[in-house]
Amino acid sequence: MTIYLNGHYMPIEEAKISVLDRGFIFGDGVYEVIPVYSRRAFRLAEHLRRLQHSLDGIKLANPHSDAEWTAIIKELISRNPGEDQYLYLHITRGVAKRDHAFPSPPVKPTVFLMSNPLPTPPAELLLSGVGAVSAEDNRWLRCDIKAIALLPNVLLRQLAVDAGCAETILIRENEFMTEGAASNIFVVRNGKLLAPPKDNLMLPGITYDVVLEIAAANHIPHEVRRIAATEVFDAEELLLTSSTKEVLAITTLDGKPVGTGKPGAMFAKLHALYQDFKRDVMRAG
Ligand code: PDD
Repeated sequence: MTIYLNGHYMPIEEAKISVLDRGFIFGDGVYEVIPVYSRRAFRLAEHLRRLQHSLDGIKLANPHSDAEWTAIIKELISRNPGEDQYLYLHITRGVAKRDHAFPSPPVKPTVFLMSNPLPTPPAELLLSGVGAVSAEDNRWLRCDIKAIALLPNVLLRQLAVDAGCAETILIRENEFMTEGAASNIFVVRNGKLLAPPKDNLMLPGITYDVVLEIAAANHIPHEVRRIAATEVFDAEELLLTSSTKEVLAITTLDGKPVGTGKPGAMFAKLHALYQDFKRDVMRAG
């Protein structure tokens, strides 16, 4: 595997960073995960826009223009095997003596990118759906920043893994649903697709946007609004979305079936339309 680190392409075994890197010491950085289909980065402009939002959120200057990012990403894709890849892009505030305050004057940020084969969900998961558990969303109030400091998400996701499930659905203040530990969550009620609003309490998912665009373009009834926890627990269907999982049906929640306990009609429709959309966009360039 060839990676990119601070201006150089190299085998991952040769990549080294300082133990004083603020990403290592403080989790002081942001990241992106970008799917690559047929060697082309999916929705790159949107991912770069969200990256800028995250950088602004942590007050870190963007080390590259969009044109430079595009060139780095293109080169990294070409140096790695596989038509479909999963690109990880990571920027930290750089290497400095340990002090919570930003280095003054600023130091060079650390820029790291790697690419792995894209692990899209296997056919049997599409047919069976996945299990989820629910938990209190105990993260900070800037979940719109794609921060590398993911300890809360790691602990919340592990609750699902320990229960033999795929994802943890997060509930704020016992009242409303925000997202998953590593995905966005949609709820289906009365045949309508419901999505929580993109505010400071959730990551604005690129896949989330695609699903809502697809719903609008195909006259699928949908609404963006706050979703009460009670509406999640007696939903007809629950769906999760992310760059690596695309669209998946959640068929059990806290050990109980969701709706019929099988992937529903909304999932089937959106999953098929998502695959069409992906193919069309990638063909069109
Ligand atoms: N995670 N919410 C959270 C907390 C996430 O970590 C992710 C994605 C999403 C979905 O966003 P998108 O559709 O842009 O992938 C929502 C990535 C895949 C990860 O951390 O690996």
